[in-house]
Amino acid sequence: MQHFLKETDFAASALPEIFNLARTLKQGRGRSVSSPLAGQTWAMIFSKSSTRTRVSFEVGIRELGGSPLFLNKNDIQLGRGETIADTARVLSRFVHGLIVRTYDHSDITELAAHGTIPVINALTDFLHPCQIYTDAFTAAERWAPPGGDLLASLKGRKIAYLGDCSFNMANSWILGAKLFGMEVALSGPKEFAPGAEIRAQLKAEGLAEDFQFTTDPYEAVKGADIVYTDVWASMGQEDESQARIAQMSPYAVTAGLFAAAKPDALFMHCLPAHAGEEVEQVVLDNPRSVIFDEAENRLHMQKAIMAVLARQAGA
Ligand code: CP
Ligand code: NVA
Repeated sequence: MQHFLKETDFAASALPEIFNLARTLKQGRGRSVSSPLAGQTWAMIFSKSSTRTRVSFEVGIRELGGSPLFLNKNDIQLGRGETIADTARVLSRFVHGLIVRTYDHSDITELAAHGTIPVINALTDFLHPCQIYTDAFTAAERWAPPGGDLLASLKGRKIAYLGDCSFNMANSWILGAKLFGMEVALSGPKEFAPGAEIRAQLKAEGLAEDFQFTTDPYEAVKGADIVYTDVWASMGQEDESQARIAQMSPYAVTAGLFAAAKPDALFMHCLPAHAGEEVEQVVLDNPRSVIFDEAENRLHMQKAIMAVLARQAGA
């Protein structure tokens, strides 16, 4: 069973189909392109808040001809202690796919292990692969010639990641950059450097630990094609917010820091953003900020991913 729990769950050889399909689906929006989820129901179990992920999946499932079933974790027995394994076995009898946003990454690997339907990671504390595929697509849309090779346009590009380099978005870029042939330089306080879990993941997959980490944000953005940041206090870390602001303020993407990247560099942020904390409003508003294209493209990329996974889901 093919799942999408981490960036590398699809081989590099599978990416052209997914990226080209996302482009086709985007161009065909509003017309009936195809209905690969016709007759299917895909359940969405969310333990954390969401605007983009929830809405893009619900709309995307409908646009592919299927029905979404949104389940807040606390509304189902999972929230009262029914095991993950039993939840996976039961839901597999009813629905054709599972989209899950939760804290522990091991929860989704367990769901995938015990169910018989594809599972998509809609964000864990460890990784946010739907966002990374979308972000790569968003950059490629800008860089590839019309109708040209999207993935080729990413090769050799440098992304600079600023702020909390120890959590889901940073981890996902470390893994995703491998798949897309990109270089990644991360910068933040040393207490927030990439941690043991992502290093272990690279090792387990036989991938080199060749990302750069520096406490100097200007060193990280030098020669960067993308400057990327995320909130300093992620969901579940709200209590640490004030301490994190104090620690990470030197890593805010100011107009000056953005200007130190390549002159045509893109600014990216998965959103939601906290203007005045991790990024200045003028950077969010810069013509080279593609934050709302990233948000829109969640829909097109996730439709492409579901269409590919659905080939087995109906079986
Ligand atoms: N970027 C992202 O995943 O946003 P939401 O938390 O709103 O889904
Ligand atoms: N790092 C953020 C990403 C939100 C899309 C969080 O986990 O809250």
